[in-house]
Amino acid sequence: MVGNGNGRTTKTDVSKTRIAVLGLGHVGLPTALGLAELGWEVIGADSNPETIASLKAGKSWFYEPDLEPLLKKHLESGFFTPTEDVDGAIAAATVLFVCVGTPQGDDGKADLTQVETIARLVARNLNGYKLIVEKSTVPAITAQWVKKTIARYAHVELRPNGKNGKRSRNQAVLPQFDVASNPEFLQEGRAIENFFKPDRIVIGVESERARELLENIYRPLQCPIVITNLTTSELIKHAANAFLSTKISFINMVGDICESVGADVVQVARGIGLDPRIGTGFLSAGIGFGGYCFPKDLRAFLHLGEEHGADCSLLREVERINTRRIELFLKKVRKAVWVPQGKTIAVLGLAFKPRTDDIREAPSLKVIQALLKEGASLRLYDPQAMPNAQRILPPEPGRVTYCRTAYEAAAGAHALLVLTEWHEFRELDLRRVRDLMEVPVLVDGRNVYDPADARKAGFEYHSMGRESVGQHFSVIVSAKPIARRKQTATLNKADKSNGKLRAIVN
Ligand code: UDX
Repeated sequence: MVGNGNGRTTKTDVSKTRIAVLGLGHVGLPTALGLAELGWEVIGADSNPETIASLKAGKSWFYEPDLEPLLKKHLESGFFTPTEDVDGAIAAATVLFVCVGTPQGDDGKADLTQVETIARLVARNLNGYKLIVEKSTVPAITAQWVKKTIARYAHVELRPNGKNGKRSRNQAVLPQFDVASNPEFLQEGRAIENFFKPDRIVIGVESERARELLENIYRPLQCPIVITNLTTSELIKHAANAFLSTKISFINMVGDICESVGADVVQVARGIGLDPRIGTGFLSAGIGFGGYCFPKDLRAFLHLGEEHGADCSLLREVERINTRRIELFLKKVRKAVWVPQGKTIAVLGLAFKPRTDDIREAPSLKVIQALLKEGASLRLYDPQAMPNAQRILPPEPGRVTYCRTAYEAAAGAHALLVLTEWHEFRELDLRRVRDLMEVPVLVDGRNVYDPADARKAGFEYHSMGRESVGQHFSVIVSAKPIARRKQTATLNKADKSNGKLRAIVN
């Protein structure tokens, strides 16, 4: 009988449950290693041979804090086995976590090709009861399609090449299976931490057996468990990401108003966020959200809603506000440097957020492309993301230079842009940075610095949703004489020695 859920009571010997995680990316790998750490025997399958070779050698193919020690530990303990053999992994396991990519299709709709491929692989390896768990973010009703696909192709796979195309009686004895939805809420840069300390676990199921299996797997993690049906669980994930994106666009809109009327968005965010109904998280104004999830999930949710006739104009605005952040930031840069053509601009931060080397949909890349087009020469630095950035933006003498440190990037620059809020940027010695620069202009797209500190260090400082400070520097051509004299920033008069406008300070 093909499983269709409702009310079955068949027991599974949970102590013998083997788990396969299918797809070892930013979601799959932390999930697989987290489950191994909880004591489950996990087969990690990925069809990319390079990924598997690197994992077998104890190296993660992307940067994620605390991931590699866990990888090494569980390669050694035997609780985690990476393999290219996806069929074999499916055949060997009872619980299959589907963590493959769900990229954006042409029209904004999620491209579910990889999910369907997995469903068909499950169908041909259905050698006993299996629980297929959707972890990747998928549009509501995907689980129903997964169920239908497995049932459909399992029949085909189990039909012998019989005489006269006759169907076998095997159809009637297909092993049972269940499909569950268990969305991931792992943030890149905090994936391991999030796995072990989840705010909640959402489980969408149609049978007691599936619920018991999943509850048992997660039992050691102390947090509320929300049990729903399949479609509700899928929708929770979309709604969560859409709501968080909405918070970000909201605070960015508030930031623009703050800037016009002389208020401070950081203080506004704190002032509203301390109300528990609002919450302090995801209220950092800046150059907007990027990454593999928010932009694509927002579009997929919008697409789903509109396909079903819902008024999703709110989400359209969220997206529009986010897209406009780049142009607003570039305006700020132009206002600060005047003409980008021929200027050297230092960029700190390439990753779409700190603690990751991921540059997918990173706002930094859009800013960089625009400035290059306008004729600026860029000096780039990121603690982790430079190898990925170099693949799509190779170094080019005099135009694109990758630097080993933030200080090296700042050397000789006419302006410094902060595009990712890495902790190490907060710790920079701002006076030293200023001394290295040709012109002390700092445009902070992530509100990393306190305006008073930036001004004290001698910068003309522009940030997001806050007033610019230190603008009396705006006619200074060289920062170096000021640094040498170690003077406070008071511009008294200017002369034109050597044909160059030069600032004279007290
Ligand atoms: C997101 C979800 O948070 C996570 O639950 C989901 O499972 C995967 O997608 P992630 O993409 O890793 O995680 O990053 P997140 O920390 O959510 O940040 C997304 C983007 O929003 C980043 O570009 C970040 O810089 C930006 N952001 C975040 C802001 O601009 N302001 C904020 O206040 C918070």
